[in-house]
Amino acid sequence: MPDLSALPPDFLWGVATSAYQIEGAVDADGRLPSIWDTFCARPGAIENGDTGDVACDSYRRRPEDLALLKELGAGSYRFSVAWPRVVPTGSGPVNRAGIAHYDRLVDDLLAAGIRPFVTLYHWDLPQALQEKGGWPHRDTARHFADYAAVVAEALGDRVTDWVTLNEPLCSAWIGHLEGTMAPGITDLGQAVRASYHLLLAHGLGVQAIRAHASAAPSIGLVTNLSPCEPATDRPQDVLAAQHADGHINRWWLDPVHGRGFPADMRELYGTELPEHPGDLDVIASPTDFLGLNYYFRMVVEADTGVPGFRQLAVPGATTTDMGWEVHPGGLTDLLLRLTKDYGVQRLYVTENGSAWPDRPGPGATVDDAERTAFLEDHLRACAHAVAQGAPLQGYFAWSLMDNFEWAYGYRPRFGLAHVDYPTQTRTLKRSGRRYAELIAAHTTGRPATRS
Ligand code: IFM
Repeated sequence: MPDLSALPPDFLWGVATSAYQIEGAVDADGRLPSIWDTFCARPGAIENGDTGDVACDSYRRRPEDLALLKELGAGSYRFSVAWPRVVPTGSGPVNRAGIAHYDRLVDDLLAAGIRPFVTLYHWDLPQALQEKGGWPHRDTARHFADYAAVVAEALGDRVTDWVTLNEPLCSAWIGHLEGTMAPGITDLGQAVRASYHLLLAHGLGVQAIRAHASAAPSIGLVTNLSPCEPATDRPQDVLAAQHADGHINRWWLDPVHGRGFPADMRELYGTELPEHPGDLDVIASPTDFLGLNYYFRMVVEADTGVPGFRQLAVPGATTTDMGWEVHPGGLTDLLLRLTKDYGVQRLYVTENGSAWPDRPGPGATVDDAERTAFLEDHLRACAHAVAQGAPLQGYFAWSLMDNFEWAYGYRPRFGLAHVDYPTQTRTLKRSGRRYAELIAAHTTGRPATRS
């Protein structure tokens, strides 16, 4: 049983999801397509030809999702608002029916004593904005701020916890450089411009939420970070690790902490940033917390071309169904780095979880020993960081339930609850039951039993 006694008494115990991964109902109540609807229609883009059309049908199954949250004893639910439901064309009229869905969700959560933790952008850019240039285009950042204002106006009397963007790295680098996520572009110049405008959107979004939410908001950016280590001590591999750190961590952390864009990476990318006077101040708009999504570390070697590194498999490592190394120590390291090097005053682990090839037994029960161990080991890593001074205030397990895992479709299962897609039945797995025990033990001060 993990010793979690170092975690603060008011620690926020949460679970996370995102709109496109769970909602389905892609054409309900005025929603228009996002870049993910378009990308899913591209032949070969998604494993098995899967799409988010139905997903977990959460748009229509709010009571079932709430029941699961209650069964877990979750203190908070991190979900995302779908921009294409609220402003279907991205920059045009507001769709009240789209907002109504989140209005009801927020009310239901609050009635159940669960704190809504709202992410404004989890990758589902309205397709209409993509057609006007998408993230490589500056106007998209301005439209994001307008959309943020609409949502803050509508929910900001009850919601206090706000995330501007989820993992801008994936939107920029995977969506515009590697091309394996929407919008599926492979162009360094566009990727760098997208990264810049995403960060600008974050800063403008922070300002819009502060201006429009009536209940004092707590606002942060969610970044997915990885410790980056060289595979050998050859100078070229050491440099590759520095580049990996620049590409994955510093490119995002430095500008939001007022340090500007890292010079070594600007030189490596060799492409102009679409800078306007004053942008860096907007990007560094004061926030209240930083959200860390942690999944794996990177062990790298030198590679020709940009961004100058290649990730290697770690010999002998345990890997998940995504091929990601299980390395809980990396979570402690990152939390301490954010505390010591960036002076972050409040941290949340806004996502952490693992996919495994679950094999449901009778009654769809899943005895997921690996996910249970992963959860316990990473919570222990959080407690270690807190014991060394990290101001960690909460942890959100990814994910509440199995869902649409982007280009991998429905094959990888990250849920604490199993979803039987044909019937949409949700059943807590052993990991979910264990999480419920740990939450109850921490919140009541009564020790959890051994698993
Ligand atoms: O499913 C994703 C989520 O949308 C963003 N963070 C990583 C998760 C697992 O890949």
